[in-house]
Amino acid sequence: MDSYQITRLGQHGDGIAEGPIYVPGALPGETVTGDLIGDRLQNVRIATPSENRVKPPCPHSKSCGGCQLQHASDAFVASWKRDVVRQALAAQGIAIDVPEPITSPPQSRRRASFSARRTKKGALAGFHMKASDTITSVPNCELVHPDLAAALPMVEALAVVGASRKGELSVLVTLTQSGLDVSVTGGKEMDVALHQALADMAREYDLARIAWDGEIALQRRAPVLDLGPAQVCPPPGAFLQATLEGEAALIGAVRQALIKPKTVLDLFAGCGTFALPMAQIAPVHAVEGDLGMMQALDHAWRNAQGLKRVTHEVRDLFRNPLIPEELNRFEAVVIDPPRAGAAAQIAELPKSTVSQIAHVSCNPATFARDTATLIHAGYDLEWVQVVDQFRWSTHVELVALLRRRT
Ligand SMILES: C[S@@+](CC[C@H](N)C(=O)[O-])C[C@H]1O[C@@H](n2cnc3c(N)ncnc32)[C@H](O)[C@@H]1O
Repeated sequence: MDSYQITRLGQHGDGIAEGPIYVPGALPGETVTGDLIGDRLQNVRIATPSENRVKPPCPHSKSCGGCQLQHASDAFVASWKRDVVRQALAAQGIAIDVPEPITSPPQSRRRASFSARRTKKGALAGFHMKASDTITSVPNCELVHPDLAAALPMVEALAVVGASRKGELSVLVTLTQSGLDVSVTGGKEMDVALHQALADMAREYDLARIAWDGEIALQRRAPVLDLGPAQVCPPPGAFLQATLEGEAALIGAVRQALIKPKTVLDLFAGCGTFALPMAQIAPVHAVEGDLGMMQALDHAWRNAQGLKRVTHEVRDLFRNPLIPEELNRFEAVVIDPPRAGAAAQIAELPKSTVSQIAHVSCNPATFARDTATLIHAGYDLEWVQVVDQFRWSTHVELVALLRRRT
């Protein structure tokens, strides 16, 4: 049987041998054998294991598709994530040292997107198996907060009352300070009987809120989250940072980047993850494409004590970025775009007088592209910090400081 030498780890966590041949579950430095089907090795056997190989901490790791890198040591994953950022920047001609990531602990994810369907015996809830439509139950999940793992029976009960006979429910469960916030899509159409069943369930499982297909079906308590001294009640399904520890690390890095700014502009502001804590220091203008999130931010600011003024604006920053005359009102900018990056807005920044930019990114490739634009136009990249809220995954997040060259 042919053997293959793994030379690197791919974007989706597969080992890659020359070819390229993709080898699920393999790590760089390992020699493996298996059956080559197309460009993928199947029935993989690890002939020479890497010193970075560890026993996966989770009992579900073989079958569950929730994590990709449980078989790799924390030190290996941290060093790989640093390299992903270093290499993305190097591809744009930018050389910088990337320090150790700040990694969230196991069982810290405060939000999980479970799948659930009805079965002959009742219902099954969990995550999809690797590369499969099949759902696997994950009662001892090492990734999510124990209160989310404990919610699986509730998710199954939702499928019993709300899934069609063959359909699959997608159930986003968020742990908030006032209990679980549940947002369901893919279920039956809402009617009186379903509404009554959901009300009974919300009481039985003490849920804060249930949304059905994006609409709030019932709310027993507002699901709130602390952001600085403010309490935000996000709209159903709204973007949130994945762990409390990750959120604190990102806010800490943004605070470290922007030293005593007189005015702050928060672009792609969401519900105010950065705007509300930064408003303890300076007045903030928050800009975001989603009206519901801006309303949540405004409501939180109006009900908080001790914050400077926070204004907000709903705006599509891809089509209609802030122009230099608008940017000149601000000394410092926080920018946290989606994976596509912020090419249109980044192009406007160097034409303004903005002196400090805290760039938060969930995509090293678009971050490096946008950073190259800023460097060519007169900013220095002072530091980059990887913040890993997605342990055991290939997802990479970071904060960087860019300062205008004097
Ligand atoms: C990575 S999230 C960051 C949100 C926020 N900074 C936080 O940390 O919670 C990106 C945000 O960009 C918003 N967004 C996506 N496309 C947009 C666009 N074209 N214009 C303005 N906002 C957009 C999303 O709604 C989302 O809130």
